[in-house]
Amino acid sequence: MRGYVRFFCLGVMFLATSFSLAEVQAEGTLAVSSQSSVETVGDKLLANSEKLEKRNEKQEAIQQRLKLKDPMKSFGDNGFCINCHEDETPAIFDEWVKSPHARAGVGCVDCHASPQGNPDSVKHAERFYISTIVTPFDCAKCHKDQIRDYTSSGHAHGLEFLKNMKEDDPRYPVVAQFKDDGFAQCGGCHGVTVGVDAEKRPDSASWPNNGAGRINPDRSHGTCSSCHLGHRFSLQAARQPGTCLRCHDGENYPEGDIYQHSPHSVLFETLAKGEVPDRPGLFLKGKDMVAPTCAYCHMNGAGKGLVNSHDQAWRLPHDLTSPNAPLLGRSENLRNNMKSVCHQCHGESFTERFFSDADNQLKEYQKKSVEPQLAVFLKKLSTLTGEKRKQTLKEYSKFLAEAKRYRMNLYMGRHGRVQR
Ligand code: HEC
Ligand code: HEC
Ligand code: HEC
Ligand code: HEC
Ligand code: HEC
Ligand code: HEC
Ligand code: HEC
Ligand code: HEC
Repeated sequence: MRGYVRFFCLGVMFLATSFSLAEVQAEGTLAVSSQSSVETVGDKLLANSEKLEKRNEKQEAIQQRLKLKDPMKSFGDNGFCINCHEDETPAIFDEWVKSPHARAGVGCVDCHASPQGNPDSVKHAERFYISTIVTPFDCAKCHKDQIRDYTSSGHAHGLEFLKNMKEDDPRYPVVAQFKDDGFAQCGGCHGVTVGVDAEKRPDSASWPNNGAGRINPDRSHGTCSSCHLGHRFSLQAARQPGTCLRCHDGENYPEGDIYQHSPHSVLFETLAKGEVPDRPGLFLKGKDMVAPTCAYCHMNGAGKGLVNSHDQAWRLPHDLTSPNAPLLGRSENLRNNMKSVCHQCHGESFTERFFSDADNQLKEYQKKSVEPQLAVFLKKLSTLTGEKRKQTLKEYSKFLAEAKRYRMNLYMGRHGRVQR
């Protein structure tokens, strides 16, 4: 699935923006970036604390300007929006005031303005053409690195992946049951295709929605708001496990439960009081964290040679979510990326032992348990019809989820939460 996603995305990206992935592809690793000018950990921490100071100064300056009570003068075009929205949507306004965007002078117009020809562009307050929903294309104006990584991630393609699943995928019989209504039931997490009404505003059947692979009226895929909730755009909030658990939880999605019962989560809740540091910038050290969160292992630039990435797959050699758990290409580099996160807190031989045992157990489990059962189920399903087929599909779906739980547990839990 992921190979296809990457390939497809390149096409979409070149249409959307003019920057190139060539450098990253040629290196064969995503651990390269524009941040390489920052050299040592000390430098990074210093830069961070200077940033924090500047941030507070800027916040005060904004408060001063608000006291002037003349937003039109202080905030340019955005003052026009603020004039009404300070009262119309006071919480949105207030969150924006506290956001890094307000500090940087990025306002309502910068995100919501929309060329008149766009499918969801409407004339608002008789002056500006705006879009209600702000898509990855809009954010791309200013956040190129994040869009590059995000566009090739599984997240951006969470809906398309279901729609385009091939019939020879072992999961097809389960997934096909939901195809008729366009996977509407799955939209909360996988995303929906957003339609527009007669006034060209997002229609009530499809929006609000912040599912990972939402397909937008401007044809971009995904939504940054699945993790950057609200107008604060707080990194601290995005880094909290709760942000991921919104979707990565429940019977079919065992990684949430596994993490929450792991030593890592327990330490995070007890010693770190369940909070990641509210530090601007890209980099957190292991000792700042006590124990890792989802975003720390899967996204943060913690670890030698790593940088932040919005493509979670860049540290994952396997696709453990898929029944056959295939190894993806370039496995050595990807595993090393993850190991270097562990090395923030664990010794090298600890990490080596951990992964070699997990890899061995995975192979054994797939061969002895998953492969034979998959074959039996698929054979059964190819002949059954009616109620019997329905019943078998239920059992099959449960089996798929349990097998996934076992695999995830090998890499993120390790305390035997597999039921007898
Ligand atoms: C004259 C007052 C006024 C001004 C000026 C104004 N708005 Fe609004 N806006 C409103 C009101 C009232 C609503 C809620 C009613 C509605 O949703 O139609 C609203 C709704 C919105 C929505 C949500 C629309 C939806 O489909 O849910 C967005 C987004 C928005 N405004 C952005 C802006 C931006 C950006 C600006 C500046 C370019 C702006 N507004 C200027 C009064 C205003
Ligand atoms: C950094 C970009 C950004 C800025 C700046 C921004 N917005 Fe938004 N706004 C968004 C995103 C993202 C959404 C979520 C829409 C979606 O589903 O994609 C949104 C949604 C909205 C909505 C509809 C949702 C609701 O809860 O009613 C309103 C109204 C709105 N914004 C008003 C404003 C106003 C007023 C300002 C300026 C004070 C502003 N926005 C500044 C990105 C931005
Ligand atoms: C007009 C340019 C512009 C647009 C459009 C824009 N941003 Fe930003 N964004 C900025 C700037 C500038 C900063 C402040 C960077 C800093 O302080 O280092 C920022 C900061 C952020 C941060 C916090 C980074 C930090 O270090 O604290 C997040 C998260 C973010 N933006 C997400 C988004 C998302 C999501 C969208 C689209 C919905 C968006 N931005 C649209 C310019 C923009
Ligand atoms: C609570 C949020 C949520 C809902 C609702 C949801 N999904 Fe998912 N789905 C996810 C997440 C998160 C992943 C990736 C992580 C994983 O597979 O454990 C995923 C992955 C998948 C996968 C690939 C992995 C696997 O288990 O085979 C399939 C297939 C899938 N979903 C089908 C569906 C279908 C069909 C529906 C609707 C009937 C649906 N999902 C509803 C969150 C959700
Ligand atoms: C799966 C959740 C998720 C989605 C979706 C997401 N982000 Fe983020 N984002 C995060 C997390 C977590 C961080 C903080 C990473 C860290 O420093 O630990 C972050 C950080 C950022 C930053 C700060 C710089 C950096 O790279 O860390 C920017 C800017 C940003 N995101 C923009 C975006 C934009 C634009 C989109 C949509 C294209 C987006 N994000 C989609 C979770 C997400
Ligand atoms: C709005 C729902 C949603 C949120 C929030 C969310 N995810 Fe996901 N995530 C998904 C879905 C759906 C998939 C499956 C996508 C697919 O298979 O195409 C997925 C896939 C993944 C994968 C598998 C790798 C891949 O590229 O397919 C990882 C790892 C992951 N998410 C980590 C995270 C982390 C870490 C966070 C929090 C910072 C997070 N997710 C937040 C819905 C979500
Ligand atoms: C200690 C680091 C760590 C933490 C914390 C962590 N993960 Fe993982 N995660 C991993 C490792 C290691 C793998 C397996 C990598 C491999 O071999 O492919 C993995 C695999 C996954 C996968 C399967 C992806 C795929 O396609 O194979 C998903 C989904 C996922 N993690 C989501 C999450 C979520 C959501 C959280 C938080 C609730 C979380 N992880 C917390 C390290 C971590
Ligand atoms: C931010 C620090 C941090 C990071 C990063 C981290 N861990 Fe941990 N981990 C801990 C702490 C602290 C403990 C508890 C140590 C103990 O009880 O001996 C722990 C416990 C564990 C345990 C359980 C040990 C036991 O005694 O049961 C395993 C296994 C583990 N980590 C694996 C990993 C792997 C694999 C990675 C990388 C994918 C990783 N950790 C990343 C801090 C971290």
